[in-house]
Amino acid sequence: MTDDTPQAFNTRAIHAGAAPDPTTGARATPIYQTTAYAFQDADHAARLFGLQEFGNIYTRIMNPTQDVLEKRVAALEGGTAGVAAASGHGAQLMVFHNLMEPGDDIIAARQLYGGSINQFSQSFKKFGWGVQWADAQDPTSFEALVSDKTKAIFIESIANPAGLVTDIEAIAAVAQKAGVPLIVDNTMATPYLCRPFEHGANIIVHSLTKFLGGHGNSMGGMIVDGGNFDWMASDKFPTLSKPCESYNNMVLGEVFGEAFGHIAFAIAARVLSLRDLGPCIAPMNAFLILNGIETLPLRMQRHCDNALAVAKWLEKDSRVAWVNYSGLENHANHALAQKYVPKGAGSVFTFGLTGGYEAGKNLVNNVKLFTHLANLGDTRSLIVHPASTTHSQLSEEALVKAGAGPEVIRVSIGIEDATDIAKDLNQAMG
Ligand SMILES: Cc1ncc(COP(=O)(O)O)c(C=O)c1O
Repeated sequence: MTDDTPQAFNTRAIHAGAAPDPTTGARATPIYQTTAYAFQDADHAARLFGLQEFGNIYTRIMNPTQDVLEKRVAALEGGTAGVAAASGHGAQLMVFHNLMEPGDDIIAARQLYGGSINQFSQSFKKFGWGVQWADAQDPTSFEALVSDKTKAIFIESIANPAGLVTDIEAIAAVAQKAGVPLIVDNTMATPYLCRPFEHGANIIVHSLTKFLGGHGNSMGGMIVDGGNFDWMASDKFPTLSKPCESYNNMVLGEVFGEAFGHIAFAIAARVLSLRDLGPCIAPMNAFLILNGIETLPLRMQRHCDNALAVAKWLEKDSRVAWVNYSGLENHANHALAQKYVPKGAGSVFTFGLTGGYEAGKNLVNNVKLFTHLANLGDTRSLIVHPASTTHSQLSEEALVKAGAGPEVIRVSIGIEDATDIAKDLNQAMG
């Protein structure tokens, strides 16, 4: 082992981006609860505003607590830079704001979190941004949809709600051939289980609200720049490749590309999208999520071990029609799970009861240890009926295609004792 051996994952989860506070010596990262920062003098202010020097200006654009969080997640993912957002959806909005012009399209997997399906198909339509839906389990379906209008491909590494593992490398090859970035939502896997940049992704987005924060107490989102996409190679991405009017005609892709550590996408997300759209994370939430990340490896492993134990138990129960957990050896996705998430297939999976829709409703009504709510990635075990909640805006056909048919129950297995989790499901199934 040499002195320059990079820190390993568990160490980075605790230390990346952080140091004792230079002024007070505070060991935990302080909550910098401030809106703005004093300039040293007029020249300093001008340099900051002109992007000639990095530094704090205003908390809508950056904040020292947020900065540690951004460095931490970027280090865990192996990216060049991070930009935090108020929520996962805020992060997604900023990514597309950088990439898209009116009339452009993205190709997205139809197996996505229902809120993302809604955001892409309904709200983004208002900006003139279109979406084409492909089948995450069939990489060739992405290739068939590529056109001149395509500006990005969007997938989840482990798809919500059914917990299916996506073949990132196969879809990255399609994106590369099309000359567009592959965006991976790595919320469900977290960088502990899967690191999409190692498989060809160019941009990663997170809902920090879930496993990274991990305690169900704060909203947050993150964009991580892979630093591995050449924005200047075509004129597809004018935000990065053309002179930027609001920064003295600077070309962001040129200035912050190779010469500056390949952080152009992150810079644009901060100085254009955060500045103009405004979805900044609260310093308090950045602090709480940073604390959560310190125990990410411990929690994630326990989530996965518990999920596998509960899935195996459910599989044997006669009241259960099917269990859809790619950690199970007989699952169609098991080989992909072993390749992309070898430490475990996450904590979220779906199952159906032989009693169908009514039995499913009874189950969510009768749980005691589980909480019936629309969230995942909490220390606590959570249960939901996607068809009537998170995915309720979808048609019946789209529900089935998204893996959220009427009889489907989704669980997010917590880090309690697996026996207590199974006991609760046993009593609630009646
Ligand atoms: C996979 C996934 N991506 C994105 C989001 C959106 O994140 P947020 O709720 O933080 O906006 C969610 C929320 O459930 C999610 O599950």
